[in-house]
Amino acid sequence: MRSLKYVLNKIIKAKIQDNRKIIDRHYLLTLEPSTAITTPKPGQFYMLSVNNGLDPLLKRPLSVHNFLDGKLQFLYRVVGKGTDLLSSRVTGESIDILGPLGNGFTVSKTKQIILLAGGLGIAPIYYLAASIAGRKPVLIYGAGTKETLIYRDQIKNLGIETVIATDDGSYGKKGNVVTVLKKYLKDTSLPYTDHIIYTCGSEAMLKPLAEFASEHGIKIHAAMEQNMACGVGTCMGCVVKTRKGLKRVCKEGPVFNLNEIEWE
Ligand SMILES: Cc1cc2nc3c(=O)[nH]c(=O)nc-3n(C[C@H](O)[C@H](O)[C@H](O)COP(=O)(O)OP(=O)(O)OC[C@H]3O[C@@H](n4cnc5c(N)ncnc54)[C@H](O)[C@@H]3O)c2cc1C
Ligand code: FES
Repeated sequence: MRSLKYVLNKIIKAKIQDNRKIIDRHYLLTLEPSTAITTPKPGQFYMLSVNNGLDPLLKRPLSVHNFLDGKLQFLYRVVGKGTDLLSSRVTGESIDILGPLGNGFTVSKTKQIILLAGGLGIAPIYYLAASIAGRKPVLIYGAGTKETLIYRDQIKNLGIETVIATDDGSYGKKGNVVTVLKKYLKDTSLPYTDHIIYTCGSEAMLKPLAEFASEHGIKIHAAMEQNMACGVGTCMGCVVKTRKGLKRVCKEGPVFNLNEIEWE
């Protein structure tokens, strides 16, 4: 169990350098920590105090979207009270952040890497893609429509092979990322099992993906989400069922071997 001292040591103040709307309900937050921080691992997250007062009391978890020149970036969607309050915070204000938390992605040294991002799953996957661009990963990124695709140009600038898809075909390939992945693997000359997938997206996307990967013997690791209270492993509020028992998303995760998840 984490000691209070451990948690307090991880809380730092950060100044909002920018908090801009990029598309409807989606914001890019850039924070300058008050002290130098170590480089977070892609897939790790921070708990952010969205407001200065006590309401809401609980911090909100957001994945690291980028870490540039000592500054942290988070890409978030407004879904409720906390993220709405966060979107109203302005440049120059200070907020408390706790992290980096969780395990992050461990990158294979031998397999062909496929990065798969559904919708806002691009938040941690973008950071992973930027960190391992030299390993020549293939990025498959999809959203509902052209309007909800985030960062088309920045993604192209990563200089890695990228397949973009939209459900309605308004941009890139038509279909969801799982369909696009199946076609990609069918067309490539490498055996399915020479690939490893790193992914983030909704449960509706992860479930069929896990089934597909398991059928074809493909390793797959996913950054998962659960509602969180403490973020540091003490409240047991964020557990998922795995073949190896209950695991805390904030502590043993958020990145899990997807083949080990027992879906409800
Ligand atoms: C490890 C981790 C990393 C995350 N990274 C990001 C990120 O990079 N960008 C981003 O936009 N969001 C991310 N989230 C989700 C984000 O934390 C929630 O959207 C946020 O806490 C909602 O707070 P709220 O007060 O606005 O909404 P609330 O009022 O708390 O909730 C509004 C609605 O969202 C649902 N909800 C709340 N939290 C979650 C969750 N974790 N998963 C699914 N549904 C949820 C609630 O059930 C409710 O229906 C992450 C969550 C986790 C656990
Ligand atoms: S949020 Fe408390 S144990 Fe994970």
